[in-house]
Amino acid sequence: MSNKELAKGIHWVGAIDWDVRDFHGYSTLAGTTYNAFLIIDEKITLVDTVKRSHYQDMMHQIREIIDPAKIDYLIVNHVELDHAGSLAEVMDAVNPEKLICSTMGQKAILEHFHREDWPFEVVKTGEEISTGERTLSFIETRMLHWPDSMFTYVKEDGILFSSDAFGQHLATAERFDDQVPMSVIMDQAAKYYANILYLYNPLIRKLLAKVGEMDLDIKMIAPDHGVIFRTHLNEILTAYDDWSKNKFDNKALIIYDTMWHSTEKMARAIARGIEQEGVFADMINLKVHHRSDVMTKVLKAGALVLGSPTLNNGLLPRMAGFLMYMRGLKPQNKIAAAFGSYGWSGECVKLLNEALEDMRLELIEEGIRHKYVPTEDDLNECVEMGRRIGKAVKERGKLQED
Ligand code: FEO
Repeated sequence: MSNKELAKGIHWVGAIDWDVRDFHGYSTLAGTTYNAFLIIDEKITLVDTVKRSHYQDMMHQIREIIDPAKIDYLIVNHVELDHAGSLAEVMDAVNPEKLICSTMGQKAILEHFHREDWPFEVVKTGEEISTGERTLSFIETRMLHWPDSMFTYVKEDGILFSSDAFGQHLATAERFDDQVPMSVIMDQAAKYYANILYLYNPLIRKLLAKVGEMDLDIKMIAPDHGVIFRTHLNEILTAYDDWSKNKFDNKALIIYDTMWHSTEKMARAIARGIEQEGVFADMINLKVHHRSDVMTKVLKAGALVLGSPTLNNGLLPRMAGFLMYMRGLKPQNKIAAAFGSYGWSGECVKLLNEALEDMRLELIEEGIRHKYVPTEDDLNECVEMGRRIGKAVKERGKLQED
């Protein structure tokens, strides 16, 4: 069996994007893949397509197996253009008998491509289509992460084509989870979750429960980005369970920007206090950490401690931008506090507190602000706040274990 074959007659025919470094604001430093799959059966079926820039790569993969004109069914699990960007070209080349998608998928395809004449076959959760020897069943996953999203499950082979879910922005020549170190895969899976799916935690809980009730015999999970899980399914499913439950580590993040190092001094003092309580403290200077990497750490942190000086009655722009990004991703179940230095007007802590409350994070401190350069006494006050934060993380951690 070729290294691109998931099961006999089911082939990976996607594309590897080694060079992409930005995905609408998410830094994809490891590149990505756009996975598509070809099922050879009485009705030859293509599951998903690729970004328009990689159309020819996918066609080369398909031509190594069959003439693309022989494809009978085309399934669109998700209309976002990293997967459906080449749909018009594929439809022209293949002219399939059926274009299979969810109700919302048909709507989104029409709104993107404006082709009422395409042979739509709309499917709902639980509906099945036979390709001959195989049965495909469909699970709508509305708002995970677009209204049109759905999974396709191949009953006979136990393969779940999961669209963006369980994906990783990771370009590798290897196709499977037992060919790449799991630490690399899980780091990228966590980053993907934190930056794409985090805000849908309640829906993910419902979906995991629904898939559990359906009692599917899942032997392989094939997402549309990154490697395919055939060996470590339990690890990725457990991680999704933990992340969607907002489970956190014994860790606080001190996320800050600084103008003349005063806010940084306060950040270091707060970190010392947190660590005195036996809690890990990660220092995240927004000047050097990309917002999407910060979000990956936010996913598993017990506390967020935000610091910014006051600039022109506001926050430093990197902090303001990060808050805007984080607010959209709706982190939950975290305690929070704010700090910052100022020169005269001093709005920094008030603005940070308002942003944290707006995100419905649990503000456990009034916050600390110090004028210009903090004194030793001022820094001791920061250490004390750090200790209170450390204690609170520990207490909440114990509750989580109970
Ligand atoms: Fe990978 Fe939502 O697209």
